[in-house]
Amino acid sequence: MTDLSQLEAELTAAAAAAGDLAALEALRVAALGKQGSVSGLLKSLGAMSPDERREMGPRINGLRDRVQTAITERKTALDAEALGARLASERVDLSLPPSPRRKGSVHPTMQVMDEMVAIFAEMGFAVAEGPDIEDDFHNFTALNFPPKHPAREMHDTFFFNPRPDGERRLLRTHTSPVQIRTMRQDNAGAPAPQFTPPQDPPIRVIIPGRTYRCDSDQTHTPMFHQMEGLVIDRGVHMGQLKWTLETFISRFFETEGVGARFRPHHFPFTEPSAEMDIQCDRSGGELKIGQGTDWLEVAGCGMVHPNVLRNCGLDPEEWQGFAFGFGVDRLGMLKYGIPDLRDMFASDVRWLSHYGFSPFAAPNPASGLS
Ligand code: PHE
Repeated sequence: MTDLSQLEAELTAAAAAAGDLAALEALRVAALGKQGSVSGLLKSLGAMSPDERREMGPRINGLRDRVQTAITERKTALDAEALGARLASERVDLSLPPSPRRKGSVHPTMQVMDEMVAIFAEMGFAVAEGPDIEDDFHNFTALNFPPKHPAREMHDTFFFNPRPDGERRLLRTHTSPVQIRTMRQDNAGAPAPQFTPPQDPPIRVIIPGRTYRCDSDQTHTPMFHQMEGLVIDRGVHMGQLKWTLETFISRFFETEGVGARFRPHHFPFTEPSAEMDIQCDRSGGELKIGQGTDWLEVAGCGMVHPNVLRNCGLDPEEWQGFAFGFGVDRLGMLKYGIPDLRDMFASDVRWLSHYGFSPFAAPNPASGLS
């Protein structure tokens, strides 16, 4: 019987002294495993007489339970120690400053385009697009440019070398060819087929895009951006054109009641045609929109010419429309005080970080997309 007490004392002492989980597991196997010392004692019960077993059974089982408990307790303690050691060695120092990362910014032109699209989207306009590389038909002929119109000349238009069949592709000089592609539903023939799906009238689209003219000074760059608008429906009139543009301008400049005037002008594809000027104040060296007595040209516009409708298979007796074209970069210069248009495309990182917008900025309250 002292044997049992001694064995128990040895085993529980060994459990308490086990230095790590591997030593403890070795001890468990030695005591409680199939060939273990305690398991051997349990097996010996089978060979005992009933009287002996009645006495020894509880003692041996008690021993087994207590050894088991001692091992479990030690395991819990060792687990806690191991976790404590890991927590201490793997500590992350959250107070370390992060390594600096260069953050890009949204180009003012793209910011302005987003703002314009948001405002027109709220008025029910969809976005349409067309290819930068155009043919003479969409850029000029279908837009009612007479064959000898000066805008077709080399000094305005970037032409590609003629193809073997004599056709000369060009870089579109305005976004108006997408009017034609939208009305004729032939955008599928455009070099990039993912452009806007064709649609029957009524049509209400805006067309943001890059445009190209051989021109460069403080307010002209060979590549610039336009935002075209086209509305085709029954009974469309100039009052709606005027309301649309005036409403857009006050939302864009976030100023109520910006004065606007529509000056008669000429475009081959609209009749009547006008240029839209907005009220501004240039005194004091700073440009203020919506105040003062000066005027600033911001858009060309007009009622879609009946010949253009006919060229697109629409009967001018049934369908009328208006169109307009804004210079996007120019609107950006006005809204964000950028003095020279050429800087916008000079890819100067200092300029971009000064005039650029945070990609994570709060939505523009004027956009209605908050
Ligand atoms: N396409 C014209 C331009 O580039 C602008 C315009 C568009 C005028 C639509 C009238 C209607 O100058």
